Amino acid sequence: MVNLEVSFAGLYFKNPLMNAACPISRDADSMIKLIDAGVGGVVAKTISIDPAIVPRPSMAVVNRGLTTSIILKTLAPGKVKAQPQSNTGSMRVFYALLNAELWSDIPSEYLLEREYPVVRKYASERGVPFIASIGYKPLELRILGSKVQRAGVNAIEFSTHYIGQDWRPVVEAAKTLRESVDLPIFAKISPFTPNIQELVKELEKIGVDGLVATNTIGPALSIDLETGKPIVGGPYGYGWMSGPALKPLALAVVAMAAKHTKLPVIGVGGVNRGEDIVEYFMAGASAVQACTIILTEGYSSIGRLLRELEKWLTMHRYTSILDIKGIALKYLSDKPMRTWPLPPTIDEAKCIGCGLCKQVCNYDAVKILEKNIGGKTRLAASIDQVKCYGCGLCVSVCPTRALKFTE
Ligand SMILES: Cc1cc2nc3c(=O)[nH]c(=O)nc-3n(C[C@H](O)[C@H](O)[C@H](O)COP(=O)(O)O)c2cc1C
Repeated sequence: MVNLEVSFAGLYFKNPLMNAACPISRDADSMIKLIDAGVGGVVAKTISIDPAIVPRPSMAVVNRGLTTSIILKTLAPGKVKAQPQSNTGSMRVFYALLNAELWSDIPSEYLLEREYPVVRKYASERGVPFIASIGYKPLELRILGSKVQRAGVNAIEFSTHYIGQDWRPVVEAAKTLRESVDLPIFAKISPFTPNIQELVKELEKIGVDGLVATNTIGPALSIDLETGKPIVGGPYGYGWMSGPALKPLALAVVAMAAKHTKLPVIGVGGVNRGEDIVEYFMAGASAVQACTIILTEGYSSIGRLLRELEKWLTMHRYTSILDIKGIALKYLSDKPMRTWPLPPTIDEAKCIGCGLCKQVCNYDAVKILEKNIGGKTRLAASIDQVKCYGCGLCVSVCPTRALKFTE
């Protein structure tokens, strides 16, 4: 049995997976569904002083999912059992979602008086922290901060999404909220926030209790070729991008924040498989949140993600999620890993001769040759040590991990 419990900012979570603030937590009914589905903490959709006027269509998937697994199946029919990054069997890969949604379009008074008390009771009976999300300007945070505190939430996340692309307004917002409430407060930052190092140090000084990284990125545009219209209805057709395409950006922010502060960091962006939670933890996260996968796969995705997380940790002989926390940070220094061409090694027993490494080699360094392996003649990759640039693309696509770097 793997221990998935985490605790930070004085809060206990039975597992590290929360929902992220978005339509899946827009009211009491939806938050109860999230709690029943097994989230470790429940985060309400962001409220602001005035209800939002939401452009429609408000959400659309960017592409319909040409997955790595399909490409691999074409190249090596019947031979590929696992995806390169997945050994829990999860094959769900799609690219991104755009949304033109703002904050909640339900009046905050209604939510605070009618819906939050229901969630507070339901969540506390089940030991699930209930976190409010509020935005955006200092005065709005002052007013809403004390109101959500009175409504009995356990912590407050404040979104900095619409207060500019500079980090100083984020600090101002944090100061005001810190002065207005006694609860743990978490700053939710956007992937384009500059000077993460300085920002997190400032937030720590002010008494912010944690960071949530990140919100969506944009503006982003996608056009439906059959109609010529943008897929979402925001001004200029712009939307904000979430889902797997966001994950590397969010992960970079999480790791940068985790390297420069002791504050807990909650990773958000593109959690799609149990392994994504592992990755966020390795980059220093203390918990994760997910929105797009729950929107597109449903509330049952929460159970799947937790099962996959448990399976991965068990397969790798970890007994607690905390065992992997921050283990990648030591490899993330301000120096390049290397600037000379180290060719990868080939484990011929694992190589299936599929040719994907040859296909992606721009340096003409890979050949697929007939070799005698274990007494049998079959196809396997071979690398020209002189031509190889050490770029690593072949290593990253090898479906069986036959290629690897020795350092
Ligand atoms: C339709 C939609 C609405 C969202 N609304 C909010 C919001 O009200 N407040 C907020 O802080 N983030 C909001 N987000 C951002 C998510 O909370 C999350 O940070 C982002 O989607 C990345 O996570 P994901 O890739 O798991 O979706 C929204 C995202 C989507 C897709």
